[in-house]
Amino acid sequence: MNPFREDLVSRSTPEPCTVVIFGATGDLTHRKLIPALYNLAVDGELPTGVKIIGFARREKSDAEFRAGLVDVNRKVSRSGHDEQIWSSFIESVSYHQSEFSDADGYRRLAEKLAAIDAVRGGAGNRLFYIASAPEFFDEILINLKNAGLNRAANGCWARVIVEKPFGTDLATARHLNEVVNATFEERDTYRIDHYLGKETAQNLMVLRFANAIFEPLWNSKHISHVQITCSENLGMEGGRGGYYDTAGALRDMVQNHLLQLLSLVAMEPPTDLSADGVRDEKVKVIRSLRQWDTPEKVAANVIRAQYTAGHVDGVPVPGYREEDRVNPESKTEAYVAVRLLIDTWRWSGVPFYIRMGKRLPKKSTEISIHFKEAPCVLFNASCGGTPGGNVLVIRIQPDEGISLRMVSKIPGNSLRLEPVKMDFHYATSFGKASPEAYERLLLDAIAGDATLFARRDEVEEAWRFIDQIEHAWHQSSNPPPMAEFVAGTWGPKEADDLLMQDGNQWRRL
Ligand code: BG6
Repeated sequence: MNPFREDLVSRSTPEPCTVVIFGATGDLTHRKLIPALYNLAVDGELPTGVKIIGFARREKSDAEFRAGLVDVNRKVSRSGHDEQIWSSFIESVSYHQSEFSDADGYRRLAEKLAAIDAVRGGAGNRLFYIASAPEFFDEILINLKNAGLNRAANGCWARVIVEKPFGTDLATARHLNEVVNATFEERDTYRIDHYLGKETAQNLMVLRFANAIFEPLWNSKHISHVQITCSENLGMEGGRGGYYDTAGALRDMVQNHLLQLLSLVAMEPPTDLSADGVRDEKVKVIRSLRQWDTPEKVAANVIRAQYTAGHVDGVPVPGYREEDRVNPESKTEAYVAVRLLIDTWRWSGVPFYIRMGKRLPKKSTEISIHFKEAPCVLFNASCGGTPGGNVLVIRIQPDEGISLRMVSKIPGNSLRLEPVKMDFHYATSFGKASPEAYERLLLDAIAGDATLFARRDEVEEAWRFIDQIEHAWHQSSNPPPMAEFVAGTWGPKEADDLLMQDGNQWRRL
């Protein structure tokens, strides 16, 4: 069967609904969710009749809530800010004040929803977006159920999007999954990982499975190794250190975003593009990871580090332990590099390297597939060594695109070789900026397509792997050391050594 058949690729038409955002006064709502919904409205993709209710604890009127949203939208909206579109969009936004624990607040919410449905003409579809601080996730879910809002009547739907962090380890993720499954149907549950909504991440499956040239080479016979890098130049600005210091790079980004990217790169072709078809294959990748389950294995395969004071973009920045709201004695990593091995037929012996760090020289996320070198019996002398293998680079952000490194002859009368790049940029090829990840994901949840959301087993398998590393770092009697690097450089020497042991090196971004 052709998995790209039209009927399987397009999702069902998004229907009118009411979106209730818990944690509506927070940064995520202001900087991502409202601008995403606004941009969907600008593009004419938001179904007519969608209403948005911001649910939060602070006292606010509708007018005050709306006024707080407009300033941020002006600054961050992808498509700019059009006063006319905004004023009709913002009409659909209202505020609901309640404690997350107050049953009466949910009863009043139910009344408000019913009143909206009556005016709209019966479409009682609800999308609950839980974007509050994680300690409130349980009580919000339980209160929704107690108010009868977890089920919709008359052929309508009630869905829930749960933001990250989805637990802080396997036990807490399992607990949250129990609560989620006791309140909403699994098919109505959308565990969001915004990296899956990024345009190039979505394109990974298309690149692999809609082009006949890559898949025959996509295995240990032809690929020497794979690198996934997520570098950030920011540190702990805006009070972020409070949360980050309790999480660290491994839990904050690797457990979710980077393992999700890894599974898209390494998965087998799904039998179709249904949510479960794709997720069945992704979870097998995570399940096949060789386990780093002793402090010795962790020391040999995982590097953690903190940055010391340095310069990023020429501006002096503090060391990690001197950052705002970070414990001066902190043992939390702000950088992590991991060597992963996937024990499957396809990937046997191919290392996958993942690295993530704060306060690196620039913000960039990319996946690079390093192919084995051609048997260079012919050209070695022409390039003073081997000409190097082909590298396929998938740029997730910024400047989304794909490039292929090839070896070419330098024009002239002598035979000299040099690597060149074939480059595809989304912005120039398609002439428009990609939508923000949250736009696509919100639209998918409204349309009932969970393909780009994590399933329960994916989240738990990822935690199972991560927990063992955390255990070696924080609970073993011989914890692997914490490395250091100067802020504004490309991470610790130990991470370079990790690849060097295999005869590889990190790609320069
Ligand atoms: C979040 C992490 O999930 O992703 C942050 O909590 C990180 O620490 C952010 O900065 C990165 O997202 P993006 O889309 O800017 O790469």
